[in-house]
Amino acid sequence: MAILDVIKYGHPTLRKVAEPVKPDEIDKQFLKDMLDTMLAEDGVGLAANQVNVLQRVIVVTDYEHTYTLLNPEIIAYSENMETGNEGCLSLPGLQAPVPRHEKVVVRALNENGEQVEINAKGLLAIVLQHEIDHLNGKLYIDRADLTSLQWVDNDPESGLPLNKDALLDEIQAIYHELFHQNKSSVVFESQRKE
Ligand code: NI
Repeated sequence: MAILDVIKYGHPTLRKVAEPVKPDEIDKQFLKDMLDTMLAEDGVGLAANQVNVLQRVIVVTDYEHTYTLLNPEIIAYSENMETGNEGCLSLPGLQAPVPRHEKVVVRALNENGEQVEINAKGLLAIVLQHEIDHLNGKLYIDRADLTSLQWVDNDPESGLPLNKDALLDEIQAIYHELFHQNKSSVVFESQRKE
């Protein structure tokens, strides 16, 4: 079992579009490492971009089932939107309310290269939309009202602030300090992308 490094906000790979995976190029060890990493980090989803791999691979869980999905696509969605708080392993300590389609149907390949369709609602629908966004270089903060960003970290040793409103430039400064100290090439993007 290998736990992969999760890259943090400001790393350029988070803003790149991942490439489709060919069924005959499925790397099962990598898929297992992604699952192990998501579980080790207490996440409900992880996209390959977040481990610095530009392949269209996500792992998600609704706490009942765990799914490994390649080349996932939203093929249908409800018009009805719901807004819930989201966080991201690549933006530790932060959360914000984000509007999402209440229901989605996702078509993908599973870890065996077989086509699957998932009818999702509730948490699973939110997580699928969040992770598929990652594959397109999009982060939840792009869809959130930026005045609603909040620090929610509860670990006093993390160096992250607690329970106060967050501003993007403050987030950038803190993440740069905590995670990117030796990387002068880190690119932060503060503009919402559409
Ligand atoms: Ni995320």
